[in-house]
Amino acid sequence: MELIHQIFKNNEKWIADKLKVDENYFNALGKGQNPEILYIGCSDSRVSAEELMGLGPGDVFVHRNIANMVVNTDLNVQSVINYAVRHLGVKHVVVCGHYGCGGVKAAMQSADLGILNPWLRNIRDVYRAHRDELKSISDETLKYDRLVELNVLEQCTNILKLASVQLAIKEKGLTVQGWVFDVHTGSLKDLHINFESILENIMEIYKIV
Ligand code: CO
Repeated sequence: MELIHQIFKNNEKWIADKLKVDENYFNALGKGQNPEILYIGCSDSRVSAEELMGLGPGDVFVHRNIANMVVNTDLNVQSVINYAVRHLGVKHVVVCGHYGCGGVKAAMQSADLGILNPWLRNIRDVYRAHRDELKSISDETLKYDRLVELNVLEQCTNILKLASVQLAIKEKGLTVQGWVFDVHTGSLKDLHINFESILENIMEIYKIV
């Protein structure tokens, strides 16, 4: 219970610190949210969404799950994207993976992980789609890092398949970004995903709007 007790102490101090800088801080926060970014990241405890971007409450709409996946039939992530894009009108959707991702690593190994199997299957599918490139990398760590990056790319592609996203790109200039966080250095790496060219490429099959 030590930690739980400490958390409530921390919260009191946090409130006091915020009010010291701006006495209207919580009045403004209480009025509503207008975040410019939807961040989809991993649940990993080391990859904190706002903190690694130097942002705070009100700045980022956040969704996190194991290995930052955007699964077609996952009502949770699909609802988050829909709400962020259609109702909050975010300007950017970000998928942020991270090196050292346990979910990605698990998907590279042959092990029966029970209820996690169907979730990790989605990452195995990414591996299969990029099998030739991944097989050509002999160093296990480099292969693992590359799968983390390719997984981000594939989840960005999944986002581009959505009607709400296709419409917002066309009408509101929404952008889709792919990043990787390096837990060893704290550095955020932009994969410079060319979402417009990916969209153009998949339109023949996935054009909805
Ligand atoms: Co992870």
